[in-house]
Amino acid sequence: VIYLDHHAATPVCPAARAAIEAARERGWANPSSVHGAGRAARALLEDARREVATAIGGDAADVVLTSGGSEACNLGVLGVRERCRGKHVITTAIEHPAVARAVDALCREHGVDVTELALPSGAAPEPQALAAALRPDTCLVALQWVNHETGTLLPIAAYAEQCRRAAVPLFVDATQAAGKVAIDVRALGADMLALASHKLGGPAGAGALWVRRGVDVAPAILGGAQERGRRAGTPDVASAAGFGAACGVLPERLAAQPRLAVLRERVEPRLRALGGVINGAQSPRAATVTNVSFAGRRGSELVAAMDLEGVCVASGAACSSGLDQPSPVLLAMHPGEPWRAGAALRLSFGPETTDGEVETAMTALRRVLERPAA
Ligand SMILES: Cc1ncc(COP(=O)(O)O)c(C=O)c1O
Repeated sequence: VIYLDHHAATPVCPAARAAIEAARERGWANPSSVHGAGRAARALLEDARREVATAIGGDAADVVLTSGGSEACNLGVLGVRERCRGKHVITTAIEHPAVARAVDALCREHGVDVTELALPSGAAPEPQALAAALRPDTCLVALQWVNHETGTLLPIAAYAEQCRRAAVPLFVDATQAAGKVAIDVRALGADMLALASHKLGGPAGAGALWVRRGVDVAPAILGGAQERGRRAGTPDVASAAGFGAACGVLPERLAAQPRLAVLRERVEPRLRALGGVINGAQSPRAATVTNVSFAGRRGSELVAAMDLEGVCVASGAACSSGLDQPSPVLLAMHPGEPWRAGAALRLSFGPETTDGEVETAMTALRRVLERPAA
């Protein structure tokens, strides 16, 4: 099987696999227990926290370990809003549902007013647009760094500068950014940053929210005092250990990006030659993905046909794939061409992807497209 769906989940890297196994052996106890077995689990959890923090240039004390990206996004968006009085939030129309639905909840339950920054010709919002949208009652800016469907890179450092000037907290969904762009939270100037383990070579079921010291975040899960009172519940030490180990080898993932950029450069003209139009190509993008629409085709049918050819690809966000609805991201990026949103194929790559695999996938795609649409 050829796996070209790295934006949905990455293969678990060898370092993470070894760490998970070791933690299952030695870290099965409750890390809050004060006895020796508990302390052994606690040590593994704290090692993982340190590795996550180091990977993003932060301090371990500022990392809240979570069950994944969605929980980290919910904690950041809902938790910080709870602690401030403003009634206005700024975001975009291309956020992952983990952020978008949390923002919806703020509207519904707290009467918050939302501004979605415009995407000029489908490109990332201009930092000046953010400056113009900020209001005296803005209590949160919630933006992604790398788009999950098209790889669009948002100029987060420039947004952070605007937010700092206005003293408005900035939440960054870096779930798809980690391992694709270098992250240094101190230099970045954001206030919160969400990560997910299974997008960077770790196992699913682990993630983190980094929170700048002094930013107050209310817990989304209520209960015990774990994670300094910011996330109740007995943590999954083995998954956290795998996440930490994957973060430890993040530089290797970053080092693969130039090769993946070259690979995509070679693939996209061939996709165009097959009749495809590349989505989101008007902005700088992360190297790991190409998103292409084929007029007259349904993305979900192409995914199924490619699966029969032994190639794993996606038509959009994995969490929406059962819904078979047009991609909200592509509708927002290409409002003049709504057909693109239902006709998209997402091919996403990782350090494991070889030229030969992509070659075989392209041959399979040509075969699939030669058949009439279902
Ligand atoms: C940009 C983005 N944010 C958040 C998430 C949610 O992460 P998780 O699946 O770990 O809950 C994803 C997952 O696809 C994502 O791509």
